[in-house]
Amino acid sequence: MTLGIYPGTFDPITHGHADVIARSLHVVQHVVVAVAPNHRKAPLFDIKERVELAKIATQHLPGVVVEPFEGLLVEYVRRRGAQAIIRGLRAVSDFEHEFQMALLNRKLDKNLETIFLMASEEYSYLTSSMVKEVAAVGGPLHDFLHPEVAERLKTQLRLTQS
Ligand code: PNS
Repeated sequence: MTLGIYPGTFDPITHGHADVIARSLHVVQHVVVAVAPNHRKAPLFDIKERVELAKIATQHLPGVVVEPFEGLLVEYVRRRGAQAIIRGLRAVSDFEHEFQMALLNRKLDKNLETIFLMASEEYSYLTSSMVKEVAAVGGPLHDFLHPEVAERLKTQLRLTQS
Protein backbone atom coordinates (compact mmCIF):
# COMPACT_ATOMS: atom_id res chain seq x y z
CA MET A 1 0.00 0.00 0.00
CA THR A 2 1.27 3.48 -0.81
CA LEU A 3 0.27 6.30 1.48
CA GLY A 4 0.75 10.01 0.95
CA ILE A 5 0.29 12.76 3.51
CA TYR A 6 -1.23 15.98 2.25
CA PRO A 7 -0.59 18.50 5.06
CA GLY A 8 -1.98 21.99 5.32
CA THR A 9 -3.94 24.55 7.27
CA PHE A 10 -7.14 24.17 5.19
CA ASP A 11 -8.85 27.30 6.54
CA PRO A 12 -11.12 26.29 4.85
CA ILE A 13 -10.53 23.54 2.29
CA THR A 14 -11.16 24.79 -1.29
CA HIS A 15 -11.84 23.16 -4.65
CA GLY A 16 -8.12 23.70 -5.34
CA HIS A 17 -7.17 21.48 -2.39
CA ALA A 18 -9.73 18.85 -3.38
CA ASP A 19 -8.34 18.89 -6.93
CA VAL A 20 -4.81 18.18 -5.65
CA ILE A 21 -6.13 15.39 -3.38
CA ALA A 22 -7.97 13.77 -6.32
CA ARG A 23 -4.82 14.01 -8.47
CA SER A 24 -2.67 12.52 -5.71
CA LEU A 25 -4.80 9.36 -5.85
CA HIS A 26 -3.28 8.72 -9.30
CA VAL A 27 0.11 8.48 -7.60
CA VAL A 28 -0.59 6.90 -4.20
CA GLN A 29 -3.34 4.52 -3.15
CA HIS A 30 -4.34 6.32 0.02
CA VAL A 31 -4.08 9.91 1.17
CA VAL A 32 -4.27 11.37 4.64
CA VAL A 33 -5.31 14.99 4.61
CA ALA A 34 -3.41 16.17 7.67
CA VAL A 35 -4.76 19.36 9.19
CA ALA A 36 -2.22 21.42 11.15
CA PRO A 37 -3.23 23.72 14.03
CA ASN A 38 -1.03 26.50 12.57
CA HIS A 39 -1.76 29.04 15.34
CA ARG A 40 0.76 31.34 13.62
CA LYS A 41 -1.79 31.94 10.85
CA ALA A 42 -4.61 32.61 13.36
CA PRO A 43 -7.12 30.46 11.45
CA LEU A 44 -10.77 31.50 11.21
CA PHE A 45 -11.96 27.95 11.91
CA ASP A 46 -10.67 25.89 14.82
CA ILE A 47 -8.92 22.64 13.98
CA LYS A 48 -11.96 20.46 14.71
CA GLU A 49 -14.04 22.47 12.25
CA ARG A 50 -11.31 22.43 9.60
CA VAL A 51 -11.11 18.64 9.86
CA GLU A 52 -14.90 18.39 9.60
CA LEU A 53 -15.02 20.65 6.53
CA ALA A 54 -12.17 18.76 4.85
CA LYS A 55 -14.09 15.50 5.45
CA ILE A 56 -17.20 16.99 3.81
CA ALA A 57 -15.24 18.26 0.79
CA THR A 58 -13.47 14.92 0.22
CA GLN A 59 -16.29 12.49 1.03
CA HIS A 60 -16.63 11.61 -2.68
CA LEU A 61 -13.00 10.48 -2.88
CA PRO A 62 -12.31 6.84 -1.91
CA GLY A 63 -9.02 6.23 -0.13
CA VAL A 64 -8.93 9.60 1.62
CA VAL A 65 -9.01 10.15 5.36
CA VAL A 66 -8.79 13.45 7.19
CA GLU A 67 -7.23 13.90 10.60
CA PRO A 68 -5.55 16.58 12.69
CA PHE A 69 -1.84 16.46 13.45
CA GLU A 70 0.40 18.36 15.83
CA GLY A 71 4.10 18.91 16.04
CA LEU A 72 6.72 18.21 13.43
CA LEU A 73 5.36 17.07 10.07
CA VAL A 74 8.22 14.63 9.38
CA GLU A 75 7.62 12.85 12.69
CA TYR A 76 3.92 12.56 11.95
CA VAL A 77 4.68 11.17 8.45
CA ARG A 78 7.01 8.59 10.01
CA ARG A 79 4.45 7.60 12.66
CA ARG A 80 1.83 7.22 9.94
CA GLY A 81 4.20 5.00 7.89
CA ALA A 82 3.65 7.16 4.79
CA GLN A 83 5.91 7.17 1.74
CA ALA A 84 5.68 10.82 0.79
CA ILE A 85 4.39 14.30 1.52
CA ILE A 86 2.06 15.67 -1.15
CA ARG A 87 1.93 19.39 -1.88
CA GLY A 88 0.15 21.34 -4.58
CA LEU A 89 1.84 23.98 -6.72
CA ARG A 90 -0.34 26.67 -8.21
CA ALA A 91 2.05 29.19 -9.66
CA VAL A 92 5.73 30.12 -9.71
CA SER A 93 5.05 32.28 -6.64
CA ASP A 94 4.45 29.10 -4.59
CA PHE A 95 7.72 27.59 -5.63
CA GLU A 96 10.25 29.25 -3.35
CA HIS A 97 8.37 28.60 -0.12
CA GLU A 98 7.50 25.04 -1.14
CA PHE A 99 11.11 24.38 -2.19
CA GLN A 100 12.38 25.59 1.20
CA MET A 101 9.83 23.52 3.06
CA ALA A 102 10.63 20.36 1.07
CA LEU A 103 14.37 20.80 1.64
CA LEU A 104 13.88 21.50 5.34
CA ASN A 105 11.75 18.37 5.68
CA ARG A 106 14.36 16.36 3.79
CA LYS A 107 17.05 17.71 6.12
CA LEU A 108 14.95 16.54 9.08
CA ASP A 109 14.43 13.14 7.48
CA LYS A 110 16.69 12.27 4.57
CA ASN A 111 14.46 9.44 3.39
CA LEU A 112 11.38 11.57 3.04
CA GLU A 113 10.27 12.76 -0.40
CA THR A 114 7.85 15.52 -1.26
CA ILE A 115 5.72 15.05 -4.36
CA PHE A 116 4.48 18.23 -5.99
CA LEU A 117 1.32 18.14 -8.02
CA MET A 118 0.22 20.97 -10.26
CA ALA A 119 -3.24 22.18 -9.40
CA SER A 120 -5.65 22.50 -12.31
CA GLU A 121 -5.26 25.86 -14.08
CA GLU A 122 -8.89 26.44 -13.16
CA TYR A 123 -7.77 26.80 -9.53
CA SER A 124 -4.29 28.20 -10.04
CA TYR A 125 -5.26 31.55 -8.51
CA LEU A 126 -7.24 30.13 -5.59
CA THR A 127 -6.19 30.52 -1.95
CA SER A 128 -8.19 30.08 1.24
CA SER A 129 -7.32 33.69 2.18
CA MET A 130 -8.76 35.09 -1.04
CA VAL A 131 -11.90 33.02 -0.67
CA LYS A 132 -12.36 34.42 2.84
CA GLU A 133 -11.99 37.92 1.43
CA VAL A 134 -14.65 37.26 -1.21
CA ALA A 135 -16.94 35.75 1.44
CA ALA A 136 -16.42 38.68 3.82
CA VAL A 137 -17.95 41.08 1.28
CA GLY A 138 -20.77 38.74 0.30
CA GLY A 139 -19.32 37.50 -2.99
CA PRO A 140 -20.33 34.20 -4.65
CA LEU A 141 -18.45 31.14 -3.42
CA HIS A 142 -19.78 28.28 -5.55
CA ASP A 143 -16.72 28.24 -7.87
CA PHE A 144 -14.34 27.94 -4.93
CA LEU A 145 -15.91 25.87 -2.16
CA HIS A 146 -18.09 22.82 -1.55
CA PRO A 147 -21.63 24.21 -0.88
CA GLU A 148 -21.60 23.08 2.76
CA VAL A 149 -18.17 24.60 3.33
CA ALA A 150 -19.41 27.85 1.76
CA GLU A 151 -22.41 27.94 4.12
CA ARG A 152 -20.19 27.30 7.14
CA LEU A 153 -17.81 30.04 6.04
CA LYS A 154 -20.65 32.57 5.76
CA THR A 155 -21.93 31.59 9.22
CA GLN A 156 -18.46 31.75 10.75
CA LEU A 157 -17.85 35.21 9.30
CA ARG A 158 -21.23 36.42 10.63
CA LEU A 159 -20.27 35.11 14.09
CA THR A 160 -16.85 36.76 14.10
CA GLN A 161 -18.08 40.04 12.61
CA SER A 162 -20.95 40.47 15.10
O1 PNS B 1 -1.54 25.08 4.13
P1 PNS B 1 -0.22 25.60 4.60
O2 PNS B 1 -0.43 26.71 5.61
O3 PNS B 1 0.70 26.00 3.48
O4 PNS B 1 0.50 24.38 5.37
C1 PNS B 1 1.73 24.53 6.02
C2 PNS B 1 2.09 23.25 6.82
C3 PNS B 1 0.99 22.92 7.81
C4 PNS B 1 2.27 22.10 5.87
C5 PNS B 1 3.44 23.54 7.57
O5 PNS B 1 3.31 24.71 8.32
C6 PNS B 1 3.86 22.38 8.49
O6 PNS B 1 4.32 21.38 8.02
N1 PNS B 1 3.65 22.55 9.82
C7 PNS B 1 4.00 21.55 10.80
C8 PNS B 1 5.26 21.94 11.58
C9 PNS B 1 6.51 21.55 10.78
O7 PNS B 1 6.84 20.40 10.64
N2 PNS B 1 7.21 22.56 10.27
C10 PNS B 1 8.40 22.33 9.48
C11 PNS B 1 8.11 22.28 7.97
S1 PNS B 1 7.66 23.89 7.38
